[in-house]
Amino acid sequence: MPKLRPAGKKWQPLLDAARAAQKNAHAPYSKFRVGAALRTRTGEIFVGCNVENASYGMTNCAERTAIFSAVAQIGPQMEIEAIAITCVQSVPCSPCGACRQVIYEFGPNAQVYFQGKRGWKQTPITALLPEGFRLK
Ligand code: THU
Repeated sequence: MPKLRPAGKKWQPLLDAARAAQKNAHAPYSKFRVGAALRTRTGEIFVGCNVENASYGMTNCAERTAIFSAVAQIGPQMEIEAIAITCVQSVPCSPCGACRQVIYEFGPNAQVYFQGKRGWKQTPITALLPEGFRLK
């Protein structure tokens, strides 16, 4: 399996944290393990993995697990500076549409790192979710 090109040095700890969280995924149905790690504007890191359920629709993606965990631990004022997503190597894994909206809620200026076909991709959430919905 080819190694992914490394991302910038500053972001390597975030990618490593996502990769570590991926190991805790509960994915007995899809067998597709995903890890996520976010960094807040205040420099804290929170991780998540996908958690599937026998009632498939109850599945929670890795990104939302990380975001909900951050909110539960430090409150809803936290702002996502960046979020990294990992999955099995060689498979691209940009965040799903639902997660894009949730990332946008807590990080309208967030940078998103995910595996592309040939190495890490970095893109602002606003490029993945143009005209994201906000109530305020
Ligand atoms: N999944 C994520 O965790 N994040 C994504 O952005 C895409 C999909 C999970 C959900 C499910 O457990 C598995 O990957 C297959 O869809």
